[in-house]
Amino acid sequence: MTIIVTGGAGFIGSNFVFHYLKAHPKDRVICLDKLTYAGNLSTLAPVMEDPNFRFVKLDICDREGVYALFEEEHPDVVVNFAAESHVDRSIENPAIFLETNIIGTSVLMDACRKYGIQRYHQVSTDEVYGDLPLDRPDLFFTESTPIHTSSPYSSSKAGADLLVLAYHRTFGLPVTISRCSNNYGPYHFPEKLIPLMIINALHDKPLPVYGEGVNVRDWLYVEDHCRAIDLIIHKGTVGEVYNVGGHNEMKNIDIVKLICKELGKPESLITHVTDRKGHDMRYAIDPTKIHNELGWLPETKFADGIKKTIRWYLDNEAWWAPIISGEYQNYYAQMYGNR
Ligand code: NAD
Ligand code: DAU
Repeated sequence: MTIIVTGGAGFIGSNFVFHYLKAHPKDRVICLDKLTYAGNLSTLAPVMEDPNFRFVKLDICDREGVYALFEEEHPDVVVNFAAESHVDRSIENPAIFLETNIIGTSVLMDACRKYGIQRYHQVSTDEVYGDLPLDRPDLFFTESTPIHTSSPYSSSKAGADLLVLAYHRTFGLPVTISRCSNNYGPYHFPEKLIPLMIINALHDKPLPVYGEGVNVRDWLYVEDHCRAIDLIIHKGTVGEVYNVGGHNEMKNIDIVKLICKELGKPESLITHVTDRKGHDMRYAIDPTKIHNELGWLPETKFADGIKKTIRWYLDNEAWWAPIISGEYQNYYAQMYGNR
């Protein structure tokens, strides 16, 4: 089988490439990635020489390029991770989110229709459900929770989801969608909460917590997400949406305090800064469907996963040091300078 993995030079996509090549040694994996600021070819160095792996630098919005790749490779499965993924950037500049996340998704699905496909899988997010109130811990997102988005990022992901379901109903495209909660683990780009706090703490820099830090996220170790997608593409039902999450809700402030403790850094580094516009209060996934139908369960407990992740950042400065020394510095100054 040949599988195209888009966005495979990013955080979750690269972890999925590693997982997939190991779990399915007879399959070919084609990674299609534009290499935006969030894509990093060095991440894929361990598999570059693998005869079952091919990297192609390509924009998912480039219709001609995408069609040519399908013509050449005749993929059986496409898993679409490629996206603009950072909420704060979507608040600064929504347009590229609409372009990549919605138009790019439609180009990939048009290629699937034109050349034929066994499965198109869309990697979506729990953010399409909006947020839950902090004072209702009994509420969770299920697959039938209405779409109700807050940010340009989540709206673009919701737009893509609706398009994917429309291509299934209208054209009979064999699709599945997964909506996962917040991931953490190796190769997480340091604009996101956990890697940003680890790297700032290591440099004794302020740890910028938005608002009071009481917002809740439902954290899942990235490998558990990769296993869930693998199961869905092989055993999931066409036309269905699957929520993915491990019932691990935590307040941002508690995560940051935990990182300080693990690194032996003082909590006095924590600085409360102006809140994110439209900041979602709480995400919480009900993963009953994927558990009952596909037998998926998370394997990594947060207490272990966060230790492994911190260890990974300590051991892999060679991966993140070039990132934070380049364009990232301008991003950081613009995003946090006057906050
Ligand atoms: P990321 O930002 O780390 O990586 C995105 C990758 O997509 C990068 O390699 C980038 O170069 C590539 N890309 C961007 N635009 C492209 C384009 N036009 N054409 C081709 N490649 C392009 O993102 P991530 O955190 O790994 O997220 C991957 C997917 O998972 C996204 O679709 C995101 O919405 C979804 N998701 C993320 C999380 C999370 O916690 N990070 C949780 C649930 C769902
Ligand atoms: O829920 C899934 C989503 O998780 C994915 O769809 C997104 O692609 C992914 O980026 C992530 O979105 P969040 O907005 O939840 O992640 P982020 O790491 O940006 O922020 C996590 C929380 O931490 C959020 O409440 C905002 C807060 N935060 C974030 C940063 C970067 C801070 O307090 N300070 C910060 O500097």
